[in-house]
Amino acid sequence: MKQALIHSFLVTIMLFLLGLGFLTSCETTTKKKFKIGFSQCVSNDAWRRTMHEEMYRELSFYPELSLEIKDAQGNSQRQIQQIREFQKQGVDLLIVSPNESEPITPIVEEVFQSGIPVIVVDRKINSNLYSAYIGGDNYEIGLTAGQYIKNRLQNKGNILEIWGLRGSSPARDRHRGLLKALEGTEIQIISQIEGEWEKDTARNRLKAHLLQKKYPEFELVFGHNDVMTIAANEICGEIGIFDKIFVGVDALPGPFGGIQAITDGVLNATFFYPTGGDKAIELAHKILSGEEVEKDNILHTAAVDLSNIRIMKQQTDRIISQQLNIVRQKVMIDSQLEIYQSQKGLLIVLAITLFVAIVSLAYIFKSLKDKQEINQELRQKNVEVLLQQQKTMEYAKKAEEATKYKLEFFTNISHEFRTPLTLIQAPVEDLIQNREAMAFKNDLLLIRKNTYRLLRLVNQLMDFRKIDNSKMMVKASAQALVPFLEEIMSVFQKTARDNQVHFRLMAENPTIQLWFDPVMMDKVIFNLLSNSFKFTPKKGFIHILIDEDPINHEVLIGVEDNGLGMVHEDIIHVFDRFYQGKSGIRKTGTGLGLALTKELLELQHATIRVKSEPGEKTIFEIRLKMGNRHFEEGQLLLDSMDSQVLDHDIFFPDQDFFPSKEREPDASPQQSILVIEDDKEIREYLKSKLNPYYRVIEAVDPEVAFSIATDELPDLITCDLMFQNGNGLNLIKKLKADPLTEAIPIIVITAKTTPDDKLLGIKTGVDDYITKPFSISFVLERIKTLLANRSQLKKHFLHELPIDSRSSNPETMDKKFVNSFTLLIEENLQDSQFGVNEICREIGLSRGQLYRKTKSVMGYSVNDYINKVRLKKAKHLLLQETESIADISHQVGFSTSAYFSTVFKNAFGITPSDFREINLKNLKN
Ligand code: FRU
Repeated sequence: MKQALIHSFLVTIMLFLLGLGFLTSCETTTKKKFKIGFSQCVSNDAWRRTMHEEMYRELSFYPELSLEIKDAQGNSQRQIQQIREFQKQGVDLLIVSPNESEPITPIVEEVFQSGIPVIVVDRKINSNLYSAYIGGDNYEIGLTAGQYIKNRLQNKGNILEIWGLRGSSPARDRHRGLLKALEGTEIQIISQIEGEWEKDTARNRLKAHLLQKKYPEFELVFGHNDVMTIAANEICGEIGIFDKIFVGVDALPGPFGGIQAITDGVLNATFFYPTGGDKAIELAHKILSGEEVEKDNILHTAAVDLSNIRIMKQQTDRIISQQLNIVRQKVMIDSQLEIYQSQKGLLIVLAITLFVAIVSLAYIFKSLKDKQEINQELRQKNVEVLLQQQKTMEYAKKAEEATKYKLEFFTNISHEFRTPLTLIQAPVEDLIQNREAMAFKNDLLLIRKNTYRLLRLVNQLMDFRKIDNSKMMVKASAQALVPFLEEIMSVFQKTARDNQVHFRLMAENPTIQLWFDPVMMDKVIFNLLSNSFKFTPKKGFIHILIDEDPINHEVLIGVEDNGLGMVHEDIIHVFDRFYQGKSGIRKTGTGLGLALTKELLELQHATIRVKSEPGEKTIFEIRLKMGNRHFEEGQLLLDSMDSQVLDHDIFFPDQDFFPSKEREPDASPQQSILVIEDDKEIREYLKSKLNPYYRVIEAVDPEVAFSIATDELPDLITCDLMFQNGNGLNLIKKLKADPLTEAIPIIVITAKTTPDDKLLGIKTGVDDYITKPFSISFVLERIKTLLANRSQLKKHFLHELPIDSRSSNPETMDKKFVNSFTLLIEENLQDSQFGVNEICREIGLSRGQLYRKTKSVMGYSVNDYINKVRLKKAKHLLLQETESIADISHQVGFSTSAYFSTVFKNAFGITPSDFREINLKNLKN
């Protein structure tokens, strides 16, 4: 940013200096000039051209002056007009050569009076209101010419005078001078021609005069200027008038000037009449520079005739060549000046460019140096940052590792805690129900209560781990809020009663339906209620308040009590993990429960806050959003969760679980149970508790367990899910897929407590799912129930003939076996030799396996069952009345009708013929 600014600043300076350089280089050519306007009366003759040349030559010495010439072409009115134009243009000085004195005088006076300096040249005006006059002394010229004529004519003769413009001062003055010189002589001006300074005018008028028959004789022509006199000579020659003397005025050098005319013999004499062009410019410069000047500047004359023509010609030629030299030099100087100016401009531009380049280079050099320094610094900083980063990464890695180890530790310790806790809790449960241990019941209840507390802490730690690893998944379902809360409250009812705590739920709308994760909410509410009960004194109150906030589309659940309460500082940190407070709950708490509560609520997009007036009232206020749009699709369970997935059993510190009735040990256990558990202590504990009622088979490894199950075909299996060598679920799947073991009821006893684990187990086909720590009484009760159901099922099958076996209900696995087994027997009913060997071959089982399978599923030996099927079919055929008893006995696979009758009578207490007779009689009646 800074560099860009400096760069643009430099560019601006450079442009500015370049512009300045350009202006400086042009300064000489565009320097303010004084503007001079020259009003020329006429300009088509050599004399006036000479005047202009002189002016321009002189001007080259004053570059600050500029000149504009306007030609009036001998017209006085036009000249007045042109002078006005100069006035309007605002010329700084006016030079005027008046065509005629009279008409031009007023305008010259006006200009002069307006403040513009005026120089009058050559011809005069009739006023002295001008700044300066420059011109020859025309009277003197007339006088000198008259004296020359007097000498030439020797005081006697006639003169023809050709006049200039009569209104112009030179014409009048020259005439006056001539008259003066001729005074006292016999020389007469015999004719006067109006030449008006113009060669052609003079020529035409003189010609007309001479062509008259009688024109006065003359010896000499005096023209007021050379051009008119030369024209007179020409006309005389043309007409044939010779030997006349021609005297003119001006004596201009050059090919058509008077000097050349003298040399050529065209004129006899002429008189210098300087144009004063150079002097006029010099005067103008002086006036414009504020210098004092003479008002009347008279230029003197000299006669030129054959006596001095050579020297005069030489001089004038020389002057001309010098003037040409001056002009050439001027041209050269001008071109040199131009070169100089452009070179000067270029030089200035170059100097500026060089300056800017040097400044830029210096700046770039400095920038580079700065940049190098900055880069150096940056490199150093970079190295420092990298080192810092490395350190941070190392710390982060260490912290990550520490967290990992911490979590692993938490996990391990949690798992480690679960087994011993189970082993404490299970016998405690057992002892609580033991009448002989009645004396220790209070102590036992205390042990149980604290075991549950420890378990709760373990579970909370594991929940944190799940939240930190993003493994705590929300499974929200629509719940009836009030019954849900009442169910949790029921756990605390006994404590409330014992402590006379006023424990109520107050809801304006008891039918509120809300979407939340019931497992998470169970933990949340249970936690809040536990806290309240912990700190609420006897005869206090604990209220659950439910309120709807339709504006915010939320439902409020308040858990309010009049317990110890909290100070402000504790309120701020009450939901921080592991925060140990100064008062109330936080002082004695672990810093886990409320932190977990908050995180579980946040997972469900709900909030919690607390207000407390210590000793008066403390309220935890939960705000849950209505509807389910705040949950992602994967977080929604469309079927409401079964209450069995809740972990109430773990949290029930005050609930006593008593089995329906005490069991008496059987004298000789008939049924067998396979206990698959790799934890030796739990396995032995289970074995010791099951032994009085069942024959217990043990398995440690899932692989071994499978072969034991297929060999032994136990009546029931209890199975853990987590093994050091293998996975319990895979084993269960294998057992359920095998026709030999598919019908055996399986109870999972596991530390895996999440609803997902339970669902997975149930989907695999387990008959019950019990989480550790378990109540042994509960386990015994479940075993008893499952076995009873199973024997019922057996009875049912045995009274049924083969039926449709397409049912996919896992409970009908036994039925499937019975159906296929019965079908096989029916198909071979006529074959009296059909027995165990044939069935083993068809079904693909060994004799032992077939024996155990039929025994476990149907309660009969294979042969007994074949006989039962044969007799059932026989009964059916006997009632048909179409076939003889001998045929029937053959059809159902008895080799002789006597043997058939004996077996039939043994089974039903009646002979086949009597059976047919009695039943047919009944039917007819
Ligand atoms: C040129 C001219 C000169 C003469 C002068 C008088 O125009 O005619 O020949 O001397 O003017 O003003």
